[in-house]
This record gives sequence, C-alpha cells and structure tokens, in this order.
Amino acid sequence: MAKHLYIKTFGCQMNERDSEIIEQLLAQSSYVLVTEPESADLILINTCSIRDKAEQKVYSLLGQLAPLKKKNKQLKIGVLGCVAQQESENIVKRAPFVDLVIGTQQIYRIPEMLDRLAGNVTVREIATDLAGSFVIPAFQKLLKGNPPSPASGEFRKFVTIMQGCNNYCSYCVVPSTRGREVSRSVADILEEVQLLVEQGVKEVTLLGQNVNSYGQTNAVADSPVTFAGLLHKVAKVPGLERLRFTTSNPKDLSEELIRCFAEIDILCPHFHLPVQSGSNHILQRMNRKYTREQYLEKIEGLRRVRPDIALATDIIVGFPGESDEDFAQTMDLLETVRFHGSFSFKYSDRPNTRSADFTDKVPEQIKKERLQQFQSRQDQISLEQNKKYVDTVQTVMVESRDNEKLKGRTGTNHIVHFPCQINHHPGETVAVKITRAGMHSLQGELAEKI
Ligand code: SAH
Ligand code: SF4
Ligand code: F3S
Repeated sequence: MAKHLYIKTFGCQMNERDSEIIEQLLAQSSYVLVTEPESADLILINTCSIRDKAEQKVYSLLGQLAPLKKKNKQLKIGVLGCVAQQESENIVKRAPFVDLVIGTQQIYRIPEMLDRLAGNVTVREIATDLAGSFVIPAFQKLLKGNPPSPASGEFRKFVTIMQGCNNYCSYCVVPSTRGREVSRSVADILEEVQLLVEQGVKEVTLLGQNVNSYGQTNAVADSPVTFAGLLHKVAKVPGLERLRFTTSNPKDLSEELIRCFAEIDILCPHFHLPVQSGSNHILQRMNRKYTREQYLEKIEGLRRVRPDIALATDIIVGFPGESDEDFAQTMDLLETVRFHGSFSFKYSDRPNTRSADFTDKVPEQIKKERLQQFQSRQDQISLEQNKKYVDTVQTVMVESRDNEKLKGRTGTNHIVHFPCQINHHPGETVAVKITRAGMHSLQGELAEKI
C-alpha cells in the first residue's frame, strides 16, 4: 500500500536536488508525495544553515509539527540537510519526538533507516558521518536500474557534479556542513545527463558550491579534466539544448572557462558570479582570495567573449569591520559592473566560522540601511538593463502555460510572459519580441522567427 511522504526543502539548489533524489529513492519503497503534512506517514525537513537563525527556525517548525504525532502514531519525522549535519544529536535533545537525523552525505541510507524504524528495532536513527562517504555512487546505482522519469513537462534539471567545499570563506558554514570538496566522475555525469535527455530534459544546470574547481579532487580515478573540459563534453550530449552551471568562486574562474562562452553554443549567456564585496580589505577578511581588480578583469573578459552575457552576483553587507568607505566600494562596484540582478544579504554569524569570532561587528541598523541602499540601486539598474531588451527578439524556452498566458525563460535567465493562442508547450523554444520590461521580468509577444 502506498505511504505518504511530505518533504519540505529549504536552501540552495543542492538541497532541492537532494530532495528529488530522496523522492526517487523513497518511490522505490512505495512512498508517494503529498502536499500537506497532515496526511503524511513520513515528514522530512531538508534544512539550510547558510544565514540568520537557521537552527531556531527548524526548532520552531518542528514544534508546529509535533502535535501531528499525537494524531498519527505511525508518523515518522526526520530532519536532513545542513542544520541536521551541524546540530546532529542536539536536535533529538531539543525535539525528542524526531525519529531520524540525517546529514548531508547520508541521504541514500534513508530507506534502510526507515526499514529499521518500521521493524521497531530502533527508537531513533542518526547518521551524520561526513567521512567522504558519498551520496552519488549509491544514487548512480539506483539510476542505472531505474532511469529518472521527469514528471510530465519537466525539462530543466540539476545535475550534481561535486560535493562539499574546500574554500573556507570566513563567514560560511558550507565547508563544515557539506564536508570536503569531491568531484564526481565525468563518466557518471555524462551518463546522468544522457539519461535525462532521453527522458525529455532539454536544459541541464551543473551544480556544485564551486564548480570552477571541478576535477581538482576526484571521487574516482579519472583522467584529469577541468571544469571547462567537462562543459565541452556535456555540451556534446545529443539532444541537450541548453547548458548552465552554478555556483562559481571568482578566484577559480579560468581563461579557459571564459572562452567556453564563445566556443559552446548551447552554454547560456548568463553568469552568476558571487563577488560578496567591492572592498579589497573586506574581501581579504572574507578569505575570498581575489581582489576587486581581478574580479573586474574577469567580468571584462566575459563581456569581451560574450557581449550579450547577463551577469548576476551575491553580496554580503555589514561584514565585520565593513566601514562606510568599504561599503561605498561595494556600491561603486555595482555601478561599474551594472549587474542584471543580485542576491544581497545582511551578514550573520554562523556556527564554526572564523568571522563569528571577529570582534568588530557592524550594528544591525547600519546593516539594514546598507542592504536597503544596495537593493534599491540594484532594482533601478535591473530595470535599466531589462529595458535594453525591449524591441529585440529573444529565444524563449516555455516553462509553463496558464490558459493563453505563457511563461518562459531566455538564455540570459530572464523570465518572459507572453500571450499565445497556439498550443505551445513547456520545453518548446519560441521567438518572442520583447514589448515591456519590468524589474524582475519581461513581457512580449510571439515573433515570426528566431
Ligand atoms: N558557493 C557560493 C556561495 C554559496 S552560499 C560562493 O562561493 O559564492 C550563498 C550566498 O549566501 C553567498 O554567496 C553569500 O552571499 C551568502 N552568505 C553565506 N554565508 C553568509 C553569512 N554568514 N551571512 C550572510 N550571507 C551569507
Ligand atoms: Fe562558502 Fe566560500 Fe565555499 Fe562558497 S566558496 S560555499 S562561500 S566557503
Ligand atoms: Fe544552505 Fe547547505 Fe545549501 S547551508 S545554501 S543548504 S549547502
């Protein structure tokens, strides 16, 4: 009989991908997804620890779910992801009704752990080993027997190419929650991309915390390959129409990778290149290992090979020791690059990070003002950048359809809304003439040709 799985995912695309893998793993044990926790036999919370008070948020969510256990004695609750990794047994101390705690590299063990729980042999299951054990080989085995079947209309997929991170940016929990950097083998990646394309997937985003250092720490013996080399190989998979990747640390962005934007026609002209700060003093304290000047040089290089490239970034404001002058440098960098969009955050202390111990913290009110100033200027720039697309014809891949309203995405990663009476479906590529630009999306109408 089918059992009901409710899974709530926080955080980055890596967590989203992990949740998908878990769904596929559990589908083998007759679990079907439900959208309400009330009707579930198994509730999994896949957590993120990157900012703010992540731990408290998880505990308060668990507090809300606890009463469900009284109503359904069979219900199991599990906590996964980066907070699970970081808090491990603390979770069951503070929320004793939790049945499973599973760290970031142990998710493939979920079915086995659930079997033990069902047999009532164990009261609770905790697995947070980070010792280089790898979710991917186990998933790969599963994939070989059971190719993924994207739900109808699903044509964009993430493919994990590496795990963990070795960079130790001074503010970041990822090296401690995801462990050491390990690259997946080229053969496994190509096999997964091929399987996905055979299932109808048209766009693949290669995923890792720092994809630019792909190949430096290999999981299995493989002939050496750079990230640019991997992109060339993946781009040759027949039937793949669009290729993207995320995320990149600018320090590892090579000339060879920049050239890929000229050489690989299915590589989308969009680059998310987190800069974090425009001040060399702050970049150094963040342990980012590049300067403002080096960052700007790479941006210039990208624009030289691909003038239509759309650039996005991440910014942290109010990092410890950030003076008015340091922040002015960040604002100046925004004016210089004129990013199409950005994600910006107030700095927050995180467990097991070096900057948590820095003593020169920026007051909350100043962080708030700086964030607001950055975001309102970014909004203006995004609108100005988007207006440049008006009257151009863009290639748009349709993502969803609501009666006669279609939503799609350009190679530059802009969302486009357009009306359409003809039956165009998700996954199809159409030409759209852009008629209006907003801050976060474009509007258009179907055009004759691409
Ligand atoms: N691997 C990516 C970043 C992943 S985390 C890179 O190297 O750029 C996503 C974003 O969260 C980061 O780019 C950063 O802007 C933000 N972030 C990470 N830790 C933070 C912290 N302690 N406080 C505020 N923002 C943080
Ligand atoms: Fe965190 Fe830095 Fe690694 Fe990105 S590169 S995940 S910011 S440590
Ligand atoms: Fe969050 Fe972990 Fe991703 S902390 S951003 S879910 S790697």
